[in-house]
Amino acid sequence: MSRMVESAKRKRGVLTLLNMSDQVLTTHRLRLRPFVLEDATTVQQLCNDRRIAETTLHIPYPYPDGAAEAWIAGHAQAAAEGKQYTFAITLRIGHTLVGAISLRVNREFQHAEMGYWLGAQYWNQGYTTEAAAAVRDFGWRDLQLHRLYAYAMTHNPASTRVMEKIGMQYEGTLKHHVVKWGKYVDLAAYGLVRPETSVIGGSV
Ligand SMILES: CC(C)(COP(=O)(O)OP(=O)(O)OC[C@H]1O[C@@H](n2cnc3c(N)ncnc32)[C@H](O)[C@@H]1OP(=O)(O)O)[C@@H](O)C(=O)NCCC(=O)NCCS
Repeated sequence: MSRMVESAKRKRGVLTLLNMSDQVLTTHRLRLRPFVLEDATTVQQLCNDRRIAETTLHIPYPYPDGAAEAWIAGHAQAAAEGKQYTFAITLRIGHTLVGAISLRVNREFQHAEMGYWLGAQYWNQGYTTEAAAAVRDFGWRDLQLHRLYAYAMTHNPASTRVMEKIGMQYEGTLKHHVVKWGKYVDLAAYGLVRPETSVIGGSV
């Protein structure tokens, strides 16, 4: 599809609908693929960690039995409706499942919120940044998005660093925007408008 046709489609608000089962993104070290029910045990092991729960809003701690299965079971429908695309982050070598990354899409506004978590034993090796750059490009190229954004608790520098490293810019702080474990928490907002001249698959 030519760039002009793509651009016109985006301006009309026509976003692509994708079947999640077809979606695999490959990077230097990672393979991002749809979750399957067989991943549930590993998801529970990785997520049953206070360090993950404390900077996320929807991951409970302790992580209950059945939660991973229920979460994975919803992915195909959400993608079929164009609402959310969730990828398992796996290592290309050994196929180990290490985390998850998703785009929650608003089709009317042609934007999406990015979210991610990684098992703590895999932190600080650049994996989330590598996955987030691939998903950013998936958003531009495959979903025809116009904008990406993400929020992180202001006491979560690792997450805001990931956002910065994929080109998102700090847009402000939402004071006491959420309640986590009984306390009001500030969220840092980061965003990125699709550069018309962007080279997809370029820099991290
Ligand atoms: C946020 C998270 C996904 C980051 O994953 P990751 O794979 O470790 O991220 P990366 O390795 O790609 O990048 C992390 C960056 O943060 C930096 N960082 C880590 N801890 C930091 C700290 N305490 N202060 C400042 N920077 C820090 C790292 O040095 C690295 O930056 P650099 O490459 O410039 O050195 C992971 O920490 C996580 O799963 N946290 C719990 C869940 C969560 O918070 N999800 C996000 C919700 S918004």
